Amino acid sequence: MRMYDIIKKKRDGEELTTEEIRFVVHGYTRGEIPDYQMAAFLMAVYFRGMNERETYDLTIAMLESGERLDLSSLKGVKLDKHSSGGVGDKITFVVLPIAASFGVKIIKMSGRGLGHTGGTIDKLESIPGMKTSLTRDEFIRIVDEIGFAVASQTENLAPADKKIYALRDATATVENLSLIASSIVSKKLAAGADAIVFDVKVGSGAFMKNVDQARRLALLMLDIVKRNGRKARAVLSNMDQPLGRMVGNSLEVIEAVECLRGEGPEDVMQLSFTLVKEMLDLAGVRVNLNDIESMVRSHEPLNRFKKFIERQGGDPSVVDDPSRLPISRDIVEVRADRDGYVARLDAEAIGRACVLLGGGRSKKEDSIDHSVGIELLKKVSDHVKAGDVLAKVYHSKRSDLNSALSLVQSAYVIFEHPVESPPTVLEVIG
Ligand code: URA
Repeated sequence: MRMYDIIKKKRDGEELTTEEIRFVVHGYTRGEIPDYQMAAFLMAVYFRGMNERETYDLTIAMLESGERLDLSSLKGVKLDKHSSGGVGDKITFVVLPIAASFGVKIIKMSGRGLGHTGGTIDKLESIPGMKTSLTRDEFIRIVDEIGFAVASQTENLAPADKKIYALRDATATVENLSLIASSIVSKKLAAGADAIVFDVKVGSGAFMKNVDQARRLALLMLDIVKRNGRKARAVLSNMDQPLGRMVGNSLEVIEAVECLRGEGPEDVMQLSFTLVKEMLDLAGVRVNLNDIESMVRSHEPLNRFKKFIERQGGDPSVVDDPSRLPISRDIVEVRADRDGYVARLDAEAIGRACVLLGGGRSKKEDSIDHSVGIELLKKVSDHVKAGDVLAKVYHSKRSDLNSALSLVQSAYVIFEHPVESPPTVLEVIG
């Protein structure tokens, strides 16, 4: 078999065999196929696409490129939750403690920020002392004790994805349904959960720009997971504007704690409760909205979040005293230049502004400034008067402040007439 022939076959729009797909994935992972040929292959897939069978085979080949986490020592159904990436997405910190308070076990391998979207691991590391790199035994022990743990993806789970993703990122071949589905699902299957809930984001701040694309991605992922004997469900959620009011690492931890106190913004609460309900349902625990709300009011999830921080080496006092988190005191306000209603708040622009402030990475090797971010005082449908503060921008010496400010200003579009507040949860599939 020759890589040249496989590239040519896909370039000409033909279907690849299981053996050809395995040859590509394993050859590239082992370093036998050079980057330039893999890049050409990915571009051919980007333009020609893959059918469901090819996408399934690609996922399994990527899964088989590394180890699978053995969770057999954990009793009961093991759950996982995955977000396809967004801006202001602190949902994991809200959903996991609430779901775990109902007695289920959640294993969560998370990533770092990608492009304009933030990463759960970066956010967690804003908590002083927090350890996100755990051994398998540590990870399982914490899940057993607390009900959940969050660790960074280990090198040996789906290593093919790590290598292929880096190349896709550098060759403009990320936005393809088969490549995204195989990348996400191979990691999730390797992490070993029995049931997975996908939060598929839709809108300007997401990979999927419209509901139709997002639905196709969701169905593709659900099909692969189910064919592997696991349960899955997908929630499509709005990412046209950022989730909640805080964007930036420490700021998002603060907002997550507010949600666990039952005082978070409505969109974050609504999406979190939907995800909790779907996760519990897959585990055979039937709850309604009232049950979830009472659980939050009991403060059990909040206390569990504190225990989780402590157990992963972090300082749990940040929960009661958020000033212990690194938060910049240098703040510039962005104001409305006219009266009206916020008609648009572009999530991607806010995400990019956060990267320019130093809250995300422009290059893989960049370090993160946890103290910077954006607080959105006005969101879509809010009424504003000229001169009102739309957003507060937390910056530091490292920030490219002027560029970030103009992005935040341009993210807001103000119309004269009232605008309806957009729904947060768009659809539940599966
Ligand atoms: N997240 C992933 O893990 N992979 C993709 O391809 C896109 C989003």
